[in-house]
Amino acid sequence: MSGRIPRQFIDDLLVRVDIVDLIDSRVPLKKVGSNFVARCPFHTEKTPSFSVNRNRQTYHCFGCGAGGNAISFLIDYAHLGFVEAVEDLAAFIGVDVPREAVDQVDFSSKQDTSRLYALLEQVAGFYVEQLRSHEGKVAIDYLKQRGLTGEIARDFGLGYAPNSWDALLARFDQQTLVDAGMLVVKEDGKVYDRFRGRLMFPIRDKRKRVIGFGGRVLDDSLPKYLNSPETDIFSKGKEVYGLCELLENKAKPERILIVEGYMDVIALAQYGVHNAVAALGTATSKVHMDLLFRFASELVFCFDGDNAGRQAAWKAVEAALPSLRDGRQIKIMLLPQGHDPDSMIREESLQGFESRIADALVLSDYFFEHLGEGLNLATVEGKAKLLSVARPQLEKMPRGFFREMMFARLREITGAKLQDAARGGSPIANQAKDKVQSASMMRKLLALLLQYPQLSQKAEQQMYELVDVNLAGMDLLKQVLELISREQPKTSAVLIEIFRGTEHEKVINALANLAWEVPEFDADAEFGGAWNQLLRQIQDNRMAALIEKSSRGESLTADELNIFKRGGKINL
Ligand code: UTP
Ligand code: MN
Repeated sequence: MSGRIPRQFIDDLLVRVDIVDLIDSRVPLKKVGSNFVARCPFHTEKTPSFSVNRNRQTYHCFGCGAGGNAISFLIDYAHLGFVEAVEDLAAFIGVDVPREAVDQVDFSSKQDTSRLYALLEQVAGFYVEQLRSHEGKVAIDYLKQRGLTGEIARDFGLGYAPNSWDALLARFDQQTLVDAGMLVVKEDGKVYDRFRGRLMFPIRDKRKRVIGFGGRVLDDSLPKYLNSPETDIFSKGKEVYGLCELLENKAKPERILIVEGYMDVIALAQYGVHNAVAALGTATSKVHMDLLFRFASELVFCFDGDNAGRQAAWKAVEAALPSLRDGRQIKIMLLPQGHDPDSMIREESLQGFESRIADALVLSDYFFEHLGEGLNLATVEGKAKLLSVARPQLEKMPRGFFREMMFARLREITGAKLQDAARGGSPIANQAKDKVQSASMMRKLLALLLQYPQLSQKAEQQMYELVDVNLAGMDLLKQVLELISREQPKTSAVLIEIFRGTEHEKVINALANLAWEVPEFDADAEFGGAWNQLLRQIQDNRMAALIEKSSRGESLTADELNIFKRGGKINL
């Protein structure tokens, strides 16, 4: 394992990178006033509401609410993890990412995965060469016989592993080959090429790096497919086949189709369906769904209509339930017996296949249809049975409108008056009006501070007025003020970065976006006004508490009396 990236490096990086240059290199920007604008890359729109601010080093979309700093942009736009985004950002300005020293240095060869990526890229190139060579003619014939074009073979980087025990062994470093899963190691220590005489499918991750291979025999021998084993860079439970090629075609597809086989993904692409992926010979897991939901809000499971396919479809639905937040959707598409997407699209062409996608069952219909199968819902027994199998499934869903809708449907079908345990009363209705007011002041102050950290001076001088105050958001306000005074962040981007990965991250990002309506020249006045209002509210509360105390017949302390005389102020 490599060590952590030093905080200081990340802060410096955010100061050295210009977010305008970074975003402009991917989404061309136009200068309008002091901002740079474009049509938002995160949602579909006709007029630009996506705006980048050079002073703050942040971006914001007024349409969909997306926003953040340069790191957030790479995470969302290029679908990267945090470390990946920092690496790409550093590469953008041509610096290396330093790592803090780790206590136990691991000197094993596992430490460095970049050599594995480099090797597999070379191996993929070698397999492509072999496909074009004299020896690869058998594989070319096979591709032709299956109706694949040369163009699609190139798009998916298909290759041929020659029928030899040491084609790779003779050309590449043995230990690296072993670590990358390309050799079979026998008990006596002898090694040989894992893939021999197979059509090779390179498997790439979302950053386009080759991480493993699938290989198909050219005849009827078994096993039909052989896959790379799990390695330091290849995890079948986390990756899917075809994602890289899909993203290359479209960064934000409307939906993603999940099919069973490599050949299905490729045949679909050849016929114009570019948004299909396949699991890597494993069941579709929750991790897969969470990965795919980062790129599209709708997933369509496409399975063969036979028994195994129907079972796999239900399994996939079960795995997807915990990921189904509002706004995410899954659909189920079962093909006729004996067909897979490959044979289907060849028979019905693009149009036929697309109308099948359009007719896919929505989850709610499929869910109750599947569980109700074989039950007589006109009887009490049938309803009770449905209730007992459906309820535990629905309880896996995250809270929200969609979950409530599914429960409502279950109530409707069974006539049961069941209460969803996760539902509660409306919190807003219980809140007193002044609390709402102070909460909105608090939001405004936090928003302005996050956008314009230099505003904190006035507040820092009067921090003592907040000592005993117990208002929603007060802890966060104090935390932000303390952070600004300690870290002196140069831009908004640096300040909000400090909160990434903390419990406050979501709130901080939402608040940082809130202040985009306030232009820089008004920020000072806005902040001063909101700060004074908040203090007045706090003082009123103190006065009310003191009046209440003395009206109960209790006497006030000397300090309290002074505060009372000052109208609730702690200090003048
Ligand atoms: P299929 O046999 O349905 O795949 O297996 P396919 O793509 O339709 O095969 P052909 O080439 O058209 O005959 C579905 C998937 O299951 C995994 C592979 O990922 C395959 O794409 N599989 C299948 C294996 O890993 N090993 C096997 O032996 C068979
Ligand atoms: Mn097939």
